[in-house]
Amino acid sequence: LPKHLTIKDGHLMIGSHDCNALAESYGTPLYVTDEQRIRDNFTRYNSALKKHYNNVQMLYAAKANGNMAVLKTFADMGAGADVFSSGELHLALLAGMDPEKLLFNGSSKTKEDLELAVEKGVKVSIDSFDELDQLSEVAKAKGKEVEVSFRINPAIDVPTHPKIATGLATSKFGIPAEQILDAYRSALDAENVTPVGMHCHIGSQILDVIPFAKAAEIMVKIAGQLTDIGVKLKFIDIGGGLGIPYRHDTDNAPTPEEYADAVMPVFLEGIAKIGIKPELWVEPGRNLMGDTTILLTGVNSVKTAHKKFVNVDAGFNLLLRPAMYDSYHEVVVANKADQEPELEYTVTGPICESGDIIAADRPLPHVDRGDLIAVLDCGAYGYSMASQYNCRPRCPEIMVSSDRSAYMRRGETVIDILNTMVDLPWVEK
Ligand code: LLP
Repeated sequence: LPKHLTIKDGHLMIGSHDCNALAESYGTPLYVTDEQRIRDNFTRYNSALKKHYNNVQMLYAAKANGNMAVLKTFADMGAGADVFSSGELHLALLAGMDPEKLLFNGSSKTKEDLELAVEKGVKVSIDSFDELDQLSEVAKAKGKEVEVSFRINPAIDVPTHPKIATGLATSKFGIPAEQILDAYRSALDAENVTPVGMHCHIGSQILDVIPFAKAAEIMVKIAGQLTDIGVKLKFIDIGGGLGIPYRHDTDNAPTPEEYADAVMPVFLEGIAKIGIKPELWVEPGRNLMGDTTILLTGVNSVKTAHKKFVNVDAGFNLLLRPAMYDSYHEVVVANKADQEPELEYTVTGPICESGDIIAADRPLPHVDRGDLIAVLDCGAYGYSMASQYNCRPRCPEIMVSSDRSAYMRRGETVIDILNTMVDLPWVEK
């Protein structure tokens, strides 16, 4: 278990809080985030990089967990953000993040997205020539200047789930190698637009430092060519961060220090050769948030069929990752955390699909109705990918901080769902 999760009197604890007591007072399902763990993760990652180069800026990937309390925690530590929609941009600004430290990413932005970025003075990572044209028009119409980067397609194969390998030559993202110089030349010529940065993102949940070092190498090589054609680079953004060890016993995850030791020398040598000192931007999401949060889910019933099923109150409506990417999350029986495994159980949610499995064939202590299951490592891409499928209101999120706990999002109700629906005027009341 990571250091913020412990066992006391047979109960799973998060920080100084007994998970069973939290479930008792807030109900289940319940997302629980440990504020101190966010701070520790950020500090470690940031320091690992800064040890090599002081000019590093962390841009938290808001998509991993966009709760305002989380964004404010990052803002408080000096982070900016990678935002992928106008919504994320609004939230990052409301959280108090410096617009100078925001990058508006995305391969399919609307005109309104671009207008918002220009109005707020936020840098835009451009993903196509067409988008460059539109951004230039938008900025000109507003009489403003906008600083941009292009998202580079580094054409790197990475060891992760195919749905989240984003820098392959065949991905939808980025400008392919042979068009990069043209793209920057067009940006140098375009009105009201100034190219000041480079951006890439090779993929997520990568447990190997080599592809990141390779990406850095490709980026600084292109940086040299861009400097030659007159681009003055203020930043180089090497995208998302390291993956995390979802399988606590067997996943061999590199540490932030190992990541920095692999990436930074390549980066520093590259920029030294060119004679530039751009900021290094990184956009970690999962590594900072993943292990900060657990999902507490109550056992509705236990069934013995061709195997033993534990039917819990959270399914892929609240945690999509296992269904979407076959991903693995550790589960702990929070009220029997010190008991030896007795049987193999498959933990399933309440959703109407057979893919609604949180954890398959896990050795657990004897499970009974009323027990509490904790699903670990749900802080990144957990609540942020939740839905209201089967008309299930999304559950609350709480934050714990030393001996305090509080809602950081109340639970939805069926009324919340109903309220967005409008009666068709032609249907009889
Ligand atoms: N920057 C960009 C442009 C991104 O698209 C992403 C993630 C990140 C940064 C953050 O990457 P990280 O440090 O978290 O690896 N829903 C999937 C993950 C999708 C990631 C998409 N982009 C999952 O649950 O595994």
